Amino acid sequence: MIKTRITEMLGIEYPIIQGGMQWLACAELASAVSNAGGLGIVTALSFLSLDEIRQEIRRMRDMTDKPFGLNISMLPIFIPGEMTSRIVDLLIEEQVPVVETAGRSPEEFAHRLKEGGVKLIHKVPAVRFAQKAERIGADAVTVVGFECAGHPGMDDVPSLILVPKAAESVSIPVIAAGGFCDGKGLVAALAMGAEAILMGTRFMASKEAPMHENCKKWMLGATERDTRIVERSIRNPCRVIINEASDKVVELEARGTTLEELLPIISGKGGRAAYQSGDLNAGIIACGQVVGRIHEIKSCAEIIQDIVQEAQSITGRLGGLFQQGN
Ligand SMILES: Cc1cc2nc3c(=O)[nH]c(=O)nc-3n(C[C@H](O)[C@H](O)[C@H](O)COP(=O)(O)O)c2cc1C
Repeated sequence: MIKTRITEMLGIEYPIIQGGMQWLACAELASAVSNAGGLGIVTALSFLSLDEIRQEIRRMRDMTDKPFGLNISMLPIFIPGEMTSRIVDLLIEEQVPVVETAGRSPEEFAHRLKEGGVKLIHKVPAVRFAQKAERIGADAVTVVGFECAGHPGMDDVPSLILVPKAAESVSIPVIAAGGFCDGKGLVAALAMGAEAILMGTRFMASKEAPMHENCKKWMLGATERDTRIVERSIRNPCRVIINEASDKVVELEARGTTLEELLPIISGKGGRAAYQSGDLNAGIIACGQVVGRIHEIKSCAEIIQDIVQEAQSITGRLGGLFQQGN
């Protein structure tokens, strides 16, 4: 066990969390993370209706008796406000222990979630948003650095700066995300004042991720230079793999485009087709720069055990560096 305020608050063994991932973070993946002592998070955005989300929560309960969470995108272009409100009611009804919100402040739901006994972890890309999360009553805040898969925000601040700055700026526990994949990262995050790491890309490259073998093979061959940021022109930057779909977005943005024109490409449907067919050019695929450091597809249990063991051996080695002088 590793004890931090996050492991205590969430009732988990290790300070390792799997971030929401549209189409991939389903019950198979999330329960494997929870069963291995971390926190698995199912993603509401992968489902079309409230009933489907409820079914997935119940599948989670069948597959694990450990704590888990549900990720909700607060962006109305992805989940309209009325639907978000109904998902919040569902979370409380089904007694889901944790919610991960992202994309916009969840302040209108914070009180209801707290009353309903759901721990609120809000994910943000900047210190000022972490401070706001604290003000609105979030139980913890995840900060995502520029390296991350998905949405790093507009400021381009990497984890090495963002994590310690956030930890110094709020008193709720900080979870470090963006670029983490191993024990080196866990020790670094704890050293920077974070109390857990959250990973997307590392768990994407897991045995349990429901993704075609071609995509997994691509990840093993990819380098840290094989992702790019798109959608900056619509103020919703997103780190994705360099492929034909993201080439198209770059081309449209270079000549001036609108959200309406981009939506069919960025909505996520193409990404789902890519995961199912193995055709990497079929759509936009979120992926972090850390893909360049992933060399093996492992089970979630192996990923977590390897991180914990490596972190423990690094901590021992570091302790030995400090010699008493005569
Ligand atoms: C394939 C993929 C899909 C993602 N989809 C979502 C999502 O639907 N909602 C969300 O809040 N974050 C999403 N993310 C971001 C992750 O939850 C997490 O913040 C991010 O991956 C952390 O950076 P890392 O990839 O360097 O570990 C996604 C990440 C990946 C790799």
